[in-house]
Amino acid sequence: MKIILIGFMGSGKTTVANILAKKLNLEVIEIDQLILKKSGKSINQIFSEDGEMRFRELEIKMAKSLAKKDKCIISTGGGVVINKINIDYLKENGKIIFLKTSLSEVKKRLKNDKVRPLFKNKKFIKKMFDFRQALYEEYADLIISTDGKSVEKITYEIISQN
Ligand code: S3P
Repeated sequence: MKIILIGFMGSGKTTVANILAKKLNLEVIEIDQLILKKSGKSINQIFSEDGEMRFRELEIKMAKSLAKKDKCIISTGGGVVINKINIDYLKENGKIIFLKTSLSEVKKRLKNDKVRPLFKNKKFIKKMFDFRQALYEEYADLIISTDGKSVEKITYEIISQN
């Protein structure tokens, strides 16, 4: 079994991935963490020193390296859907689950966030959110709404629909 979690920043992918992995006894893999390891830099550093394009290149590399992976829960970065090739790599024998969270909920959760370079540009966020929403929906095999739900409820819904 291979589950890939997609969704906007702050949709709970990391938290849900960790709990799902424990419950299903599967390995959890976080693409952002693989990028950190590979580059030896934080995401903020990659964006500011090397640019977003470099980050996206590394993201594609990591997605490619996971194409044949099985028995795992993969947590992606919110921008993974920008390059469709990522989805093609990740969905090989896997199920893509979109954690759907409203923008107002995302803003509440990330109010004090310092680690997400793309969340700093407040004017751009609504546009980015709307643009990506359509992609998450297109690529998802299953959509789970998360607003107002506990992590336990979300993981329960995922497990019962698998
Ligand atoms: C990004 C989301 C981040 C991280 C990077 C870019 C995005 O991951 O990959 O800051 O483009 O939405 P999270 O979705 O885990 O915040």
